[in-house]
Amino acid sequence: MTKPEIIICPDAAELNRRAAECFIERAKEAAARSGRFAVALSGGSTPKALYSLLATPSFADRIPWPKVHLFWGDERCVPPDHPDSNYRMVCESLLSKVSIPSENVHRMAGEKEPQVAAAEYQQELTAFFQLSEGTLPRFDLILLGLGEDGHTASLFPGSEALKETKRLVTANFVKNMSAYRLTLTLPVLNNAAHVFFLVAGASKAAIVEDLLGAKSGTSNYPAAKIQPRDGKLTWMITQDAAANLRVG
Ligand code: 6PG
Repeated sequence: MTKPEIIICPDAAELNRRAAECFIERAKEAAARSGRFAVALSGGSTPKALYSLLATPSFADRIPWPKVHLFWGDERCVPPDHPDSNYRMVCESLLSKVSIPSENVHRMAGEKEPQVAAAEYQQELTAFFQLSEGTLPRFDLILLGLGEDGHTASLFPGSEALKETKRLVTANFVKNMSAYRLTLTLPVLNNAAHVFFLVAGASKAAIVEDLLGAKSGTSNYPAAKIQPRDGKLTWMITQDAAANLRVG
């Protein structure tokens, strides 16, 4: 993997603007190259403002929505209209405001029994990417967030999903939540053409330092395992989240 690109933005507004421009650039490139743009979205609170920005005319009008295929990097095991649903968050901030064909929206079925939902999503990925046995989907872009404990997607420290080397999607039991989460696995995340971490807020400064600071390379956090084999890794971080990094 090439060295990660680290972009430090003065604030969340600039982070979202930069991320939106990158999203558009990747979407246009992929659509021109393959006729489609396959992107896996992150959940959580940070990306909501990005999705809302992408829905505004000055950004939305530059995206070839009929060629965009939206997937999720992870999902909570709740119905799609539940307040915790990542699908609901994307619906409210983006899907309800742009004209993307419904068949291009590939949500994880959080309402179903977790193992069933994971198996169904594995099937959905296999069909969409026309995968043969043992091959991996290659997303044009995967957006990821970062938890203060170093988790990303729903790959939490110490959880079974981190050991998954074959399945594309798994139902991961998260002990400190006493709940299952659906998540893409490391082989899929590390097969993407471009992975983009979006990290904002002073509360992330410590974990950002552990992952990207002087001590980086020694951490065993799930986010440290994101190393695209043949792809680009970009960390887009707000100034306050990067406060402990010595830049330059
Ligand atoms: C989720 C996300 C998760 C998130 C991090 C950061 O479903 O919650 O996939 O990995 O990206 O927890 O969340 P915030 O952006 O809310 O800090």
